[in-house]
Amino acid sequence: MIAAADFKITKAEHSKLTDINLENIPFGKYFTDHMLEVDYEDGEWKNAEIKPYQPLLMAPSLAAIHYGQSIFEGIKAYKSPSGEAFIFRPHDNFKRFNQSAERMQMPTVPEDIFMKGMQLLVDLDRSWIPEMEDHSLYIRPFMFSTDEMIGVRPSDTYKFMIILSPTGPYYNMPMRIYVEEQYVRAVPGGSGYAKAAGNYGAAMYPTAIAKKNGYDQVLWTDAFEHRYVQECGTMNVFFIIGDKAITPDLQSGTILAGVTRDSVIKVLKDMGITVEERPLSIDEIIEAHKAGTLREVFGTGTAATISFIKELRYEEYTMLFDVENWATAPEVKSRMNAIRYGNTADKHCWMMKV
Ligand code: COI
Repeated sequence: MIAAADFKITKAEHSKLTDINLENIPFGKYFTDHMLEVDYEDGEWKNAEIKPYQPLLMAPSLAAIHYGQSIFEGIKAYKSPSGEAFIFRPHDNFKRFNQSAERMQMPTVPEDIFMKGMQLLVDLDRSWIPEMEDHSLYIRPFMFSTDEMIGVRPSDTYKFMIILSPTGPYYNMPMRIYVEEQYVRAVPGGSGYAKAAGNYGAAMYPTAIAKKNGYDQVLWTDAFEHRYVQECGTMNVFFIIGDKAITPDLQSGTILAGVTRDSVIKVLKDMGITVEERPLSIDEIIEAHKAGTLREVFGTGTAATISFIKELRYEEYTMLFDVENWATAPEVKSRMNAIRYGNTADKHCWMMKV
């Protein structure tokens, strides 16, 4: 077992922060001064080290490159008005990370390495946490197999790492979404519920086609009938129909159990709105649109936070939304922001102080 004292810490000689303006920064482009690296060898985690952010030296036969035993998480840290640093629901991401590890036949990461390593790293690079609204420090824990071999089998060795990236909004504008009816993201029994790198790689081709046609992302549908909506791009998705909020349920294992999704469900309930987690078909969505009861559609995710959807296109049918006049999604967003930036009581105990 690795204790806090067992993390070797080597500090960067100079901070890169002096060259970077933390306002209006694009997502995932800049990285802080330090990173965490831990090795899994001989059945145990060892060599826990925080060191200056730097490239990795890798063999061309590295197993992760060939067979994709590679998983990740996305978490965010915020600065409160008094300048304190807080991380949003990291234990939930820790649990999901190990569920992904199990699905990909990888070792789980002990809590003291994941949580303590993250806290030490964020503490060291706390001056990188942006203070502007819709800005935060994105925390990217990840693990990949490191055996040098090209036989198809689970690797014996792995690396667990965390890097940090100061970030502004992931999607700047309300989105145009294409309802996918040819390609699929996930099937029951597959790895859709895991945050496995390959899930994202496989989504790029259908997403590129949608982008070529002027859309920002696709709304994935189920693999059998292309009728039931699942995720939207890299986000979970919510529909406000009448006075209820509806989001696809997680039963079939094809949808990532988003931490933001869970938080939004709780905030909607705080607002007195009934939330239904259940299968939702495109027919029901179109019917509600035609009846005038489909009021708002939005995506949720760590990177995206809450992203408004202004257009949904299904076959020849287009649904347009007057985002400017919405009531629910903006209220959810402002309540979530108030908690994250420390401007209101954290009644759900979501913020972990660093
Ligand atoms: C996140 O929301 O953290 C994600 O993982 C989406 C991403 C791939 C940028």
